[in-house]
Amino acid sequence: MRHIHIVGIGTGNPEHVTVQAINALNAANVIFIPSKGAAKAELADVRKDICERYVTNNAVRFIGYDVPSRRTADRSYVQGVDEWHEEISAIYERLFLDHLPDNESAAFLVWGDPSLYDSTLRIIERVVARRKVALDYNIIPGITSIQALTASHRIPLNLVGKPVQVTTGRRLAESFPGVAETAVVMLDGEQAFSKIDDPDAYIYWGAYLGTKDEIIIAGRLADVSERIVSTREEARERHGWIMDIYLLRKGRDFDDRT
Ligand SMILES: C[S@@+](CC[C@H](N)C(=O)[O-])C[C@H]1O[C@@H](n2cnc3c(N)ncnc32)[C@H](O)[C@@H]1O
Repeated sequence: MRHIHIVGIGTGNPEHVTVQAINALNAANVIFIPSKGAAKAELADVRKDICERYVTNNAVRFIGYDVPSRRTADRSYVQGVDEWHEEISAIYERLFLDHLPDNESAAFLVWGDPSLYDSTLRIIERVVARRKVALDYNIIPGITSIQALTASHRIPLNLVGKPVQVTTGRRLAESFPGVAETAVVMLDGEQAFSKIDDPDAYIYWGAYLGTKDEIIIAGRLADVSERIVSTREEARERHGWIMDIYLLRKGRDFDDRT
C-alpha cells in the first residue's frame, strides 16, 4: 500500500516547520510540489526553501504538478469547489500511479495546518474512495495563519472564557457582531470588515505573515479600516497577490463578571 504524509508547513516562515514535519519529509520517497502560476511564485519559493533547508535525504524525489484554477462562472461557490476537488483528485490519482510505486511513501507540503481551510485531506479521501489506488495517510499539524496573526499582534485568541468564531469574508456579516465577540476572518477578497459599522469593534489585521514582507495594522475598526483597505490594495498590486487575515473583537476580558 502507498502512504501519504500530509504535512503542515506553517504560514510563510520556514522556521514554522516542526521537527515532526522535517522527519516526515525525510521519510518520504517522493515530495509532490504544486505550482500555482507566476503570480504566486513567492509561495512556491517558500516550499522550495523548506525542502532545501530540511530535506537531507538525497534519495527523495521531487515531482512538480500544476494546480488547475477553480472555475466560478455559472455555478454556485459550493458546486465550483466540489468540481475543483474532483479535478484535483484525478490529478493526484495520476501522480500516484505514475510516480509512486506500491509500498512507497509521498509527502504533500500543506500551507499552515491541513485542517484549516485546506482541501488536501478531502482530496486524498476522494482518491481513496475511487479505489484505483490503495492508500493510507497521516497528518502532521502545522502552525496556522491564526497563530501567526495572534503572535505578531501579541494578543490572545479568545477573551477569558469566551468563544471564537473562524469564518470567511463571504459569511462575516452573518456572525459579527452578534454571536461572536471574537471572529477570525480568512479568505476575504472583499474586505468585509469595511462594511461593519460598529464603534466598539477592534481589528487586528495581518498580511504575508511570517514572511519578510509581513504587514500588521491594529486599532479601533472605525479608525483604521480605510488605512487597511489602502495598504492592502497597494501591497496586492506590488506583489501581484496577497494573503491576509484578521481578528475582529468586541468586549474585554472579565466584562461579563457578575
Ligand atoms: C486556503 S486558506 C489556508 C489556511 C491555512 N491552511 C492555515 O492553516 O492558515 C488561505 C487563507 O489563509 C490565510 N493565510 C494563510 N497564510 C497567511 C499568511 N502568511 N498571512 C496572512 N494570511 C494568511 C488567508 O486568510 C488566506 O486567504
